[in-house]
Amino acid sequence: MGELKITRTQAPKAKLEDESKLGFGKLFTDHMFIMDFDRSSGWHDARIVPYSDFVLDPAALVFHYAQAVFEGLKAYKNEDGEVLLFRPKDNFVRLNRSADRMCIPNIDADEALNNLLELVRMDSGWIPTAPGTSLYIRPTIIATEPMLGVRASDKYVFFIILSPVGAYYAEGMKPTRIYVENEYVRAVPGGTGNTKAAANYAASLIAGEKAHEKGFSQVLWLDGVKHANIEEVGSMNMFFVIDGELITPALNGSILPGITRDSILQIARSMGIKATERTIAVEEVFAAHEKGLLDEAFGTGTAAVVSAVGEMTWNGRTIKINAGEIGKYSQMLYDKLTGIQMGREADEFNWVVRV
Ligand code: COI
Repeated sequence: MGELKITRTQAPKAKLEDESKLGFGKLFTDHMFIMDFDRSSGWHDARIVPYSDFVLDPAALVFHYAQAVFEGLKAYKNEDGEVLLFRPKDNFVRLNRSADRMCIPNIDADEALNNLLELVRMDSGWIPTAPGTSLYIRPTIIATEPMLGVRASDKYVFFIILSPVGAYYAEGMKPTRIYVENEYVRAVPGGTGNTKAAANYAASLIAGEKAHEKGFSQVLWLDGVKHANIEEVGSMNMFFVIDGELITPALNGSILPGITRDSILQIARSMGIKATERTIAVEEVFAAHEKGLLDEAFGTGTAAVVSAVGEMTWNGRTIKINAGEIGKYSQMLYDKLTGIQMGREADEFNWVVRV
């Protein structure tokens, strides 16, 4: 892949003074990473350049057949001003797994990480420090060959952009209201549900719009065959606490193998909490609530971190979970995870990479 070429911006952008107004993914830093692929040269021309528009042919395959994959991870600044990344290599390994499914050539995960470290170093002044804020990192690969035949592209661009962010949900830390979707499905066995294919997110929009119109913040997807078992929320994996046991849907091929999901399972087990990965029917969750056994529900994801779910509606039935408040497991796991990410807690799992 070769040497990294760096061009610094001559016109640094103004930063947002009030970090409480960041929101999610609306503001971008001064620089971005780019690298090109073609069949004869492979991945080449790795470079960091001033953040700018792309010029792409309107026939570029990504615009027509959505051959694109992406990742999401975060950088944090600790109290000593050190910059920390959380399990970054795992994101590049997963990016390659998504790429395999979408016939996109793999990148070198170690080199990608080194290039990311350089980019984050250059734009470290953009990392917000207010509680609940971080620098969101979006690595993406798109198919750029101008061609209208349906086949894998011969050309790609891999880029990484950075965005200072606050909470993902407009509610901030408040528990979200979730709509269980019965009509549309997100993924089926053999499909792309266990990858971060950009098209998965486009296909989920219609149900998201429907849920928003009804006043919900997110859609909870059921399995694509029986419409009975809980899969995920799309922007997060789901966890339920039933009678003191933490339960999350098993990775069945149509659920995203979340890095935060895996971290929460490891943290919970290390704290002596029983944490089980298995099929869980939506009926079981509602039945547990009826019996008074559903203690908590929350979602996990890089963007969402640990987000408590305060209410779920399925087939006209609505349940309030933990009286709509953040529960003790959600709070404890959030505190431990963000403690490790922010360098406040010992990194006993060796997850943190210093930039
Ligand atoms: C993430 O959590 O990083 C995601 O990619 C989910 C979403 C923002 C698309």
